[in-house]
Amino acid sequence: MLIVGNWKAYVESKAKAKALCAGARRLGAKGVHEIVIAPSFPYIGMLAPLRPSVKDVPALGAQDVSITVGGAKTGEVTAGVLREIGVSYVIVGHSERRARGETDEIVTEKARHVLAHGMTPIICVGEADRDPEAQYLKFVRAQISSVFAALTPKERLSVVVAYEPIWAIGKTDLEAITPTDLAEMVLYIRKVLADFMPGRANQKVRILYGGSVDADDVRSLATGTLVDGFLVGRASTDVADFSALVKAIS
Ligand code: PGA
Repeated sequence: MLIVGNWKAYVESKAKAKALCAGARRLGAKGVHEIVIAPSFPYIGMLAPLRPSVKDVPALGAQDVSITVGGAKTGEVTAGVLREIGVSYVIVGHSERRARGETDEIVTEKARHVLAHGMTPIICVGEADRDPEAQYLKFVRAQISSVFAALTPKERLSVVVAYEPIWAIGKTDLEAITPTDLAEMVLYIRKVLADFMPGRANQKVRILYGGSVDADDVRSLATGTLVDGFLVGRASTDVADFSALVKAIS
């Protein structure tokens, strides 16, 4: 499975960043799962130079990327910079970014920059609430379609989709999605992907789940749901918690 630790802004100490990084490397070294950490930009800069000679850093992800390319753009961190420093995955369109005004169009443009620089975009989608008429399915379909319609068939193969219902983010495992609902959603997302990638092609797109995943619920969410991995927030920012989570599905 692909397990991505989204540190968000939880980590505010170099020592902690280094400890989490070393822990993630140990987990990845077992070769059972692909482990990616997504620190804040400065910590990417701190950890990246350790690779590959020291072999002390797992694959690096960024939590966001600029919509711009280089030039007179104060404060922006471009895909070119991320690629150059050794980032392989970029989270795009996280609901915490969308809440600050990031539209589907912006998400699409960012994804294209990421792909153009040879990195893998992790496109986050997910509804704020579930309604009895299941309009949320249309909402998720629109989020996915907006990105996939703009990509070439070859680019589509490199995308990861993270289903992160906003109602389940940052809560306890008691409020996470049920395995049954997750299984349904993964099937639904595959169906949406199949509109753009018929046949077996859409199987190349990995579908992650995120939203209050921890050591207590990860096993049930990984079993029988056909999910390809997890995007983990809070539980990825404690060495013991993250290790317990990964071990629970190893
Ligand atoms: P959480 O966050 O695991 O803390 O719920 C997941 C995410 O927002 O990526």
